[in-house]
Amino acid sequence: MELADRDAWLDLIATSGFFLHPETEAAVLFDEYWGAETSWLGVFHRQTGRLAAADFMHIGDYPMYPNGAQMLYISVRPADRGFGLARSLTRQHMIDAASAGLHNLFAETDDQRLPSIVNTFRLGFRPCLYAEEMAGRWEVVCQNSSLPFTPDQWPRSGHFAA
Ligand SMILES: CC(C)(COP(=O)(O)OP(=O)(O)OC[C@H]1O[C@@H](n2cnc3c(N)ncnc32)[C@H](O)[C@@H]1OP(=O)(O)O)[C@@H](O)C(=O)NCCC(=O)NCCS
Repeated sequence: MELADRDAWLDLIATSGFFLHPETEAAVLFDEYWGAETSWLGVFHRQTGRLAAADFMHIGDYPMYPNGAQMLYISVRPADRGFGLARSLTRQHMIDAASAGLHNLFAETDDQRLPSIVNTFRLGFRPCLYAEEMAGRWEVVCQNSSLPFTPDQWPRSGHFAA
């Protein structure tokens, strides 16, 4: 993505169900994160130039995830869902993070965003049970999806990978 794609990104993010006002919160978010230790990815429709999907990876100081990076605001336009775009974006971040020597790639999301949770789980990500209530919340997520509930095998923090 390029800075010139700002309006296209604001248009895309408005379709994604995030509680962000496009002209205020989403615009502020873009301006804060653009260029600030972030790597933005966009997928464009070749014939129309439409931005079909986008997200970004932020390399920050995350105490719970040393040497980490966070994937944020993955969005695929409703008409473009189900074609593997989210999987492609996530895979690219995995490659970019590994190439940059970052060992703790993570994402945070709401319990009800099952498509995104299933996508990241299938790519090898695992829940991080960093707080008491996390196992119970993940049990419900797994009941509501096809994911296996195996908390004994899941990390308590990102320090395991440091
Ligand atoms: C979540 C979202 C990004 C998925 O985008 P997508 O391009 O349709 O996803 P993909 O086609 O790459 O799917 C990859 C995998 O994710 C999972 N997945 C995607 N959509 C799913 C759904 N509706 N239900 C269950 N699993 C789903 C599947 O495992 C899928 O692989 P499969 O098709 O081989 O089974 C898209 O639905 C979206 O933009 N939602 C609104 C914004 C949002 O919730 N973002 C996440 C915030 S953290």
